[in-house]
Amino acid sequence: MTAALTLEGVSIQFGGIRALEDVSCQVPAGQLRGIIGPNGSGKTTLLNVISRIYPVTSGAIRLFGDDITRWPNHAVARHGVMRTYQRVALVNQLTVLENVMLGLHATRRQSLLGIAFCTPGYRRFERESVDRARGTLEFVGIEHLADRRGDELSGGQMRLVEIARAVVSRPRVLLLDEPAAGLSLVRIDEIADLIRRINAELGVTVVLVEHVLNLVMSLCERISVLVSGQLLVESGSPSEVQEDPRVREAYLGQARAHGPGQGQGEGEAADARA
Ligand SMILES: Nc1ncnc2c1ncn2[C@@H]1O[C@H](COP(=O)(O)OP(=O)(O)OP(=O)(O)O)[C@@H](O)[C@H]1O
Ligand SMILES: [Mg+2]
Repeated sequence: MTAALTLEGVSIQFGGIRALEDVSCQVPAGQLRGIIGPNGSGKTTLLNVISRIYPVTSGAIRLFGDDITRWPNHAVARHGVMRTYQRVALVNQLTVLENVMLGLHATRRQSLLGIAFCTPGYRRFERESVDRARGTLEFVGIEHLADRRGDELSGGQMRLVEIARAVVSRPRVLLLDEPAAGLSLVRIDEIADLIRRINAELGVTVVLVEHVLNLVMSLCERISVLVSGQLLVESGSPSEVQEDPRVREAYLGQARAHGPGQGQGEGEAADARA
């Protein structure tokens, strides 16, 4: 089995907060892995250490066997790790097509000279980028939005553009941070179908952080559960995770802490059982 991602004893500390503590797990190449856990359990931090936005305090991270623990974040992107963000981050002044093209600029090195003098090589790169971005918009099903500006889109459309920007460079690993947050049930179904196709048709290994538990349970073969920075379940099937009393307790504990009707946890624990 080739592991796309391997985490070995990864810990990260912010001041007095241990956001991740001795996290070890493997994601096999081609897998669609779900990561769940209550608010503040370290899910986003986990994606941030994999994409090397945060340096780990200790431990090691491997990408297809290469030790990327100390690589700069752009090198990790160039080696095929792309991501989306919990808070969508499009460039509002650019069109959808241009936003998606940014995904190619992030992964290819362009000489400043080429850009400044608009050399034939750079012009070819730009032409290819337009073609690939249009192809990706078609794949995602939003080619009709190509000329809209970032700030003219609905929340659901922004999330799709962000995914298009992350897959345009054909990454080997895609990290998704709550792609279904705030979406209607119909839009959640659409995004589920898209994630499935990215995994199955493009052969991309996907790590999906998500609070919509029904989506994770229906999409992911294996699920990891993070609680208070530690892996409660390293890799379980959807039914193993749903039936694990420790997982239920983690969500219900959070709901209790937030009081009745406050936490997302209680509803989601019910979702997980559904
Ligand atoms: N840059 C940072 N500086 C200080 N503390 C941080 C930083 N990033 C994360 N944390 C802390 O680390 C812990 C884990 O946060 P993280 O955002 O990873 O949780 P999460 O599981 O993604 O939560 P949510 O489900 O609400 O998105 C929290 O206590 C958070 O306050
Ligand atoms: Mg988060």
